[in-house]
Amino acid sequence: MPAGSSGPISGAGGRGHGAGGGGTRPLRVGVVGAGWMAGQHVAELQARDDVEVRGVVDLDLDRADGLAASCGATGFASWEEMFERSPLDAVWACTPPSAHLEVARAAFARGLHVYLEKPIARTMADGRGVVEAAAEAGVVCAVGYQWHALDLVADVREALTGRRVGFVLGRNIGATKVRPWFVDRAEGGGNVLERASHHIDLVRSLAGEVASVQVGTSSVSLGGRPPEAGDVEDALTVVLGLESGAMATILVVWLAEGLPSSYGVDLAADRAWLHLDLDPDFTLRGVVAGSPVRRQASSPALRSSIQRFVAAVRKGDPGLVACRPDDALRTLEVALAAEKALVTGMTVRVGEDRDGPRPG
Ligand SMILES: NC(=O)c1ccc[n+]([C@@H]2O[C@H](COP(=O)([O-])OP(=O)(O)OC[C@H]3O[C@@H](n4cnc5c(N)ncnc54)[C@H](O)[C@@H]3O)[C@@H](O)[C@H]2O)c1
Repeated sequence: MPAGSSGPISGAGGRGHGAGGGGTRPLRVGVVGAGWMAGQHVAELQARDDVEVRGVVDLDLDRADGLAASCGATGFASWEEMFERSPLDAVWACTPPSAHLEVARAAFARGLHVYLEKPIARTMADGRGVVEAAAEAGVVCAVGYQWHALDLVADVREALTGRRVGFVLGRNIGATKVRPWFVDRAEGGGNVLERASHHIDLVRSLAGEVASVQVGTSSVSLGGRPPEAGDVEDALTVVLGLESGAMATILVVWLAEGLPSSYGVDLAADRAWLHLDLDPDFTLRGVVAGSPVRRQASSPALRSSIQRFVAAVRKGDPGLVACRPDDALRTLEVALAAEKALVTGMTVRVGEDRDGPRPG
């Protein structure tokens, strides 16, 4: 049981999106980083009666106070202060990627479970640090690739049982928020880490490991990317060669605010074509060997991802989360290979900079 704990954590969930079942007390949560994504998480967490947000931390105390006020929590300017003053069970780490390891380590050191936003880290060294520290602490850690948590992912696998995926198209087309670390590629990894890595994670999950990466970019303004967005491109295509011999193409397009967006994955296999619509519909349709496939996700992706994390914490089983740190580290390795391909214009073999075995 985590430090500061005072009894078993509740699994109750009658009022909102809770897990259902009985229990004694809610999961006490602290949020670190009070920006855009933290706001999405807090809205989901507030709708659950098996979770209580107790504290919110940001370097900018006004931001921490603002988000804390929206959920009856206390704002703090440092996690050390929050950990000292507020007994917690779990931490939602929603800082920019280069500050993921320090937050995760500080939480693990106190025996706290961590929902860590994606990508696992900015660098492989930091990502390895997260994997090792989580394993050493023996706590639950989920990495926030929420699409991975959709029940439709299992539905795709089931629909394609006995068939090898031959082609995947990932669409990540829409507006995105301008955040200082995102528009500085050295700091945040640009569109490759921030947006394409979601689809790299899904491609790996649905079609297997990646062997090689090529990247093409467009710098023609589409009205989304502001002038201060430095070296972050307007659009890019990531072409993945998979170990199975299949290929995948991921499109990331930074559209202007207000235009219709398109997030999804299309897959082709032997006599099969599936179309997975992501935000906001979360539907699967297609045809496999002449039979129609049509499914609706049981809940939206972020809710499913949080649900899997909370259930894993309640059961004390780190393997129950949708995306484990070791899995997210392999996605980061592919994303960093894509970043190298973008910078060099060359085809990059995944793992060519690796010293030892495949991570994870
Ligand atoms: N899962 C998704 O779909 C999704 C979507 C958007 C962002 N994200 C991820 O969420 C994370 C945060 O992204 P965002 O869009 O909310 O960014 P943001 O810039 O809106 O918010 C980040 C916040 O962290 C604070 N911060 C930075 N360093 C800190 C530190 N050391 N201690 C405390 N606070 C610190 C900043 O002041 C800022 O308020 C990133 O890892 C990003 O990749 C995930």
